[in-house]
Amino acid sequence: MTQASGNPDVPDLGRRQFMNLLTFGTITGTVLGAAYPIIKYFIPPSSGGAGGGVTAKDALGMDVDITAFLDEHGAGERVLVQGLKGDPTYLVVTDEGGSIERYGVNSICTHLGCVVPWNANANKFMCPCHGSQYDYQGKVVRGPAPLSLALTHADVTEDDNVVLTNWEETDFRTGDQPWW
Ligand code: FES
Repeated sequence: MTQASGNPDVPDLGRRQFMNLLTFGTITGTVLGAAYPIIKYFIPPSSGGAGGGVTAKDALGMDVDITAFLDEHGAGERVLVQGLKGDPTYLVVTDEGGSIERYGVNSICTHLGCVVPWNANANKFMCPCHGSQYDYQGKVVRGPAPLSLALTHADVTEDDNVVLTNWEETDFRTGDQPWW
């Protein structure tokens, strides 16, 4: 009575539509699944925001103004700012004062990721978590940390800000290629 055709071997309209949908879905899913790697190949990868560099920010999230920064920080100081990928990164005031080094030192310990404080008395970065030590430029001098602290470029802009960019050249402290 509910059969549209009256023939029990012929599915009624609702069942046919459902089966059509199922077939369509299966074929579409298969085609899209197969095409996904091809489509993805033609979509350029996102830059992630780190490649072009970031403006260093202070603890309040404000752009670092180099004039004010150097008024506040003297020769040889290492000062944390927010750097690439949001990592706390040290700007290094030169030994003479009045300018910063052209490199910044990422503060993330290469052992298990603690933020490594600068110890001015020891002239080293000393990790409080498991005792790793890094020299005044962030080169590892005592384990368990397996690698030196990562470097970034640190350049002063015309607007008196500091831009941090990826360090892709040889690590001048070790002569090795960057591990980061
Ligand atoms: Fe720095 Fe372990 S996290 S020594």
